[in-house]
Amino acid sequence: MAKRIILDCDPGHDDAVAILLALASTEEIELLGLTVVGGNVPLHSTLLNARKVVTLAQRECKVFAGCPRPMMRDIVTAEHVHGETGLDSGSGQPLGEPTVGVEPDHAANFIVDTIRAEPEQSVTLVAIGPLTNIAIAFAMAPDIIPRVRELVIMGGAGFEPGNITPAAEFNIYVDPQAARAVFESGVNLTMFGLDLTHQMLITPDRLAKINADGGRVGKVVGDLLDFFNQYDISKYGWEGAPLHDPCTIAYLIEPAIFDMKKMHVVVDTTDGPSLGRTVTDWWAATDETPNVLVATRGDADRFFALITERLSLL
Ligand code: BDR
Ligand code: CA
Repeated sequence: MAKRIILDCDPGHDDAVAILLALASTEEIELLGLTVVGGNVPLHSTLLNARKVVTLAQRECKVFAGCPRPMMRDIVTAEHVHGETGLDSGSGQPLGEPTVGVEPDHAANFIVDTIRAEPEQSVTLVAIGPLTNIAIAFAMAPDIIPRVRELVIMGGAGFEPGNITPAAEFNIYVDPQAARAVFESGVNLTMFGLDLTHQMLITPDRLAKINADGGRVGKVVGDLLDFFNQYDISKYGWEGAPLHDPCTIAYLIEPAIFDMKKMHVVVDTTDGPSLGRTVTDWWAATDETPNVLVATRGDADRFFALITERLSLL
């Protein structure tokens, strides 16, 4: 039976691929709605981008606007990675205008109402941006926390250094208080941090396959990833950028791609150089009860083959 999911996102190139992968994988995933948060770019742009991506897929999906800013801090954005629009392309060609509207409900209300209305443990949350919407929903309605089947996030880093500060990964850093509230909520939490996503590089070969075999949407994605690759290639000297966010969706479709290990993780919210760090007890150095299932390794070729094949279905 297909997993029923709500996808909380801040598109963003890798968010866009995650949305497309979910929409293309109808046997494994029923997408109940996209909830959008400010993150990679401000909310008005992430919202427009989410609607454009659903329109590109030519699939039905409701889109809900969420929080424009973190709970306690000013928003930090990532135009340096995703461009001014949040979805700049290599060719300069923008995505087509959306035909999908915005639902009247706030994203947090949609999350709360859906999880309360659906059978217990039947809805999976996936969060691939700052965790503001999720934390707000959990604060509004703590009764939903044990009803969530699993919350799968892209965020954090255990061994790896941060990508927005030396200590912190972007999604956690943007709203560390929200992240901490979510990590301490007791929700059944699964984390795809930089340790895993830095294994998933968009190499020239993989990009060429997406362009050649991914069909109509694959060509558009190829153009987007062409832009997305530029920052990481020039900054880190890697073969391509890590395709972070779709790891969460690939895990729900084909979990065998990934190795997972349960660990104790806490989010540092103290002001200073470690703000937003996910302190991950990889080697069980403490007696703390493991609270997060952490992705440790992944088969990058299988991951990219899955994405290419599914894009071709749209
Ligand atoms: C995360 O930050 C964003 O720029 C990406 O969309 C991804 O969710 C990676 O650190
Ligand atoms: Ca994201």
